[in-house]
Amino acid sequence: MDITPHATAAMSKDDILRLRALFPALQQEVNGKPLVYLDNGATTQKPQCVIDALVDYYSHDNSNVHRGAHTLSDRATQQFEAARVIVQKFLNAAKPEEIIWTRGTTEAINLVAATWGRQNLKTGDEILVTGMEHHSNIVPWQMLCEQTGAVLKVIPVLDNGELDTARLPELITDKVKFVSVVHVSNALGTINPVATIIRMAHEVGAKVLVDGAQAVSHWNVDVQSLNADFYAFSGHKLFGPTGIGVLYGKEALLNTMPPYQGGGEMIEHVSFEKTTYNALPYKYEAGTPNIAGAIGLATAIEFLNGLDRHAILAHEHALMARCAELADKIGGLRIIGNSPEKASVFSFLLDGAHPADVGTLLDQQGIAVRTGHHCAMPVMDQFGIPGTVRASFSLYNTLDDVDALFAGLEKAKMFLL
Ligand code: ALA
Repeated sequence: MDITPHATAAMSKDDILRLRALFPALQQEVNGKPLVYLDNGATTQKPQCVIDALVDYYSHDNSNVHRGAHTLSDRATQQFEAARVIVQKFLNAAKPEEIIWTRGTTEAINLVAATWGRQNLKTGDEILVTGMEHHSNIVPWQMLCEQTGAVLKVIPVLDNGELDTARLPELITDKVKFVSVVHVSNALGTINPVATIIRMAHEVGAKVLVDGAQAVSHWNVDVQSLNADFYAFSGHKLFGPTGIGVLYGKEALLNTMPPYQGGGEMIEHVSFEKTTYNALPYKYEAGTPNIAGAIGLATAIEFLNGLDRHAILAHEHALMARCAELADKIGGLRIIGNSPEKASVFSFLLDGAHPADVGTLLDQQGIAVRTGHHCAMPVMDQFGIPGTVRASFSLYNTLDDVDALFAGLEKAKMFLL
């Protein structure tokens, strides 16, 4: 999908309000004020159709998948596997077998580190990440380095929050065996040039995982056109339930990798002498999966498929443009992350105010933001700050929400400064 700003006309306010009306959690007051929900980077709210899908599943079809000789189990299995196909099409993966259900992005990354990583890395090999990774795309690789003797290297971040791509040629050497890069930074909003990184990594024979947790809610990702080896995302940031996520992996790679967890479903045959493993995708799905979660996530994707995602993206750019305009006026506000390629994440500091205090004062006005290091301590260290206030926007936010944020900040300033 073309993610150029203003690729198409933004949605009208009425369109947005009609969309917003489909999200019941947004129709409430918090601390006596209408909720202004700007914490979509942490989790998005759920449309009624997703909530209904969960209730319907548990009310009528609840059963275990791939196991029972009965009607409910057949129904549950059919919906669960249909959900996999919906995700496959959403990512434009070649086959449903390339879609592995996980608990979320974190588990997807850990799965690859524990399987491909342990199988393929040895002392002196290099793993490359960026300086703006979420802890879940740092710590599994550090653990793997401890186990294998591999070395973690970092692509630096420039002061404006952009990746220092000038350093890529010197960093992507033939010592690099694996690159794990965030598509959109949760802390800064930076959109990284993942296609370029993948191409360069492939030229030295390295494999690439893209952490798409903050990307898929903004535009449609095509894993084949990116040529990503692995792509991970979480359901709950994509209007789906918590506790469900996806690892896409190229079939040929997944087939060569060892299993992740041992247990039911992932086996073909078990004896005390030897166990053989199931085919894809089940080889990576030990234990009863989050069936309702998968069905809920597929419902969220179908909901998105019914919307004009180009228009929504243009709308999100309009929200960010309003933020930039009001940030200029308010005074004493420092934006953290000014990359020209940026998703609808507005991370900032108010001079002289601790982010946590700003967050509390906004909450008192019904405005939900996230404050702190956003599980990205290294990039906070780079900017020499303990954390930020982060407003992260989604398809149901209006320009009025942005105005409410800045009116809230003006009030917070009166208390704090
Ligand atoms: N990683 C999520 C966030 O950025 C939780 O808020």
